[in-house]
Amino acid sequence: MSEQVTITIDGRELSARRGEKLLWAALRNEIYIPHLCAWPEIEPPEASCRLCYVEIEGRERPVTSCTEPVIEGMVVHTRSPRVDRLVASAFELIMSDHHLNCAKCPQHKRCELQKIARERRLRLRPSRLTALPRRGERDDSLKTIYFDSGRCVLCGRCIWACRELARVGAIGFSRRGYKQAVTTFGDLPLAETACTECGECVEICPVGAFSYKINAGGERESL
Ligand code: FES
Repeated sequence: MSEQVTITIDGRELSARRGEKLLWAALRNEIYIPHLCAWPEIEPPEASCRLCYVEIEGRERPVTSCTEPVIEGMVVHTRSPRVDRLVASAFELIMSDHHLNCAKCPQHKRCELQKIARERRLRLRPSRLTALPRRGERDDSLKTIYFDSGRCVLCGRCIWACRELARVGAIGFSRRGYKQAVTTFGDLPLAETACTECGECVEICPVGAFSYKINAGGERESL
């Protein structure tokens, strides 16, 4: 059995597995910390979304909880003025290029962005940054799944799932900076890759970028 340690998060004393990442210890104990890029089996964590900041007593600066292993006696605060500022800025940056059209999104009411906005009382629509929605094309080439890159938050979870769970590797990151995107090799339509339409990308996507196609009867399209 793995060794247990005692940590304190927001004044609650909890038991956690030594070395597990703080984010998962908090979530397992129903203490919410915003996150997009983390997934329990993605190791090492990408730590690219910068939403999971917390303060740890004795540390000079806030740290990302998805990369921080728990140790005995750790005292953590999920909210502080510095954490709230960092999370609000990271969230606004993500939302500044997100195609915001919740009513038409298949993830409406299940979307992780809506959850973060609700939990942290943040606006979905950026107020300080100019919105520059990505002009991504929608890839409709597959029979059962589509990819709408305008909704993609570049968390990378789909890339990991396609490679590690589906063992296909049909997608990856391409380009840099504002132009960075999840694409296939050579920007081919998904139907022209090794994609098997297994659905791992849809299941792991925290927003509505990879989605199942729905037929006229309201059912998922099948192969
Ligand atoms: Fe920690 Fe994305 S969940 S940086």
